[in-house]
Amino acid sequence: MVWYKRKENIAGGIIAAVAVTLILGLSLGLTRRQKTIKSTFFSRCEKFKEHDCQKLWDLFEKAHVNKDPCNVPVEAYDPLIAAAPFIPDCKKMMFWSGTKDVVHDLTAKRKDCYFTLEDTLLGSILDGLMWCGKNGKDDTFTTGCPGWSDCENNPVRSFWKCASAAYADAACGDVTAMLSGSTTTPFDPESIFASIEVTRLKAPRVSSLNVVMVLQMNAKSDCTNASLKNLQNQLDPNITYSCKDVAEHRVEQCGSQPQIMCGSCW
Ligand code: APR
Repeated sequence: MVWYKRKENIAGGIIAAVAVTLILGLSLGLTRRQKTIKSTFFSRCEKFKEHDCQKLWDLFEKAHVNKDPCNVPVEAYDPLIAAAPFIPDCKKMMFWSGTKDVVHDLTAKRKDCYFTLEDTLLGSILDGLMWCGKNGKDDTFTTGCPGWSDCENNPVRSFWKCASAAYADAACGDVTAMLSGSTTTPFDPESIFASIEVTRLKAPRVSSLNVVMVLQMNAKSDCTNASLKNLQNQLDPNITYSCKDVAEHRVEQCGSQPQIMCGSCW
């Protein structure tokens, strides 16, 4: 009898210990995930001076926290974008599609020549991050979130659509777009560049759009590609269009040789 009681006590103790460990583990995991995106947000934000990072974080969270992660409209991020206006120098603006790495390697080294949305305050804070809210929860999550194409109104996609629209609205002068010769459709109608940015470039504020077709070995397309006709058709007719085929190593050279003048990169 006594022996049985002792056994029951030991079993109860083990169950309680396992339950406590599980609960502690889960809540610690949650805090850590939450801390990771929040601390990334703040450490990236604080590299830019003169911004109230807490205010930006609060506006960021307000857009998606406690919401169905497939039902966050683009406009939800308007207050955040409005709180961090873009671009001191709109003349250096670079757009891109399918060329993320080559473009950002270049702009990291040649801030004197070009910058992209991902070099602006909000773009650089949120570049490469994944996040969402959930109905009935007060946190920002980074796992269990819908992927880019799982549903149209997911928070990540809505943020980038909102930011890209504001970025394109701010463009002026001669703007550059780096497209990829490695795909058969460098001007892809599904892309943010084609679906949001191109149609928002407006003359006379913007005078020209200069496409750089980045050609790797065995490129599949160049400036004669049929999809570029669609680009020209969608572009404001008062914006001058040009396209130049440029080998990828030439773009890399521009990054590695700061003595090359911006206008002579390709
Ligand atoms: N899954 C996840 N992320 C995606 C997906 C996808 N299927 N498609 C696009 N993205 C995100 C990724 O972060 C990717 O690096 O969009 C980025 C760019 O995708 P691209 O198709 O290469 O280019 P595009 O959609 O045209 O967007 C680039 O928008 O970011 C702005 O101003 C920027 O001009 C640039 C343009």
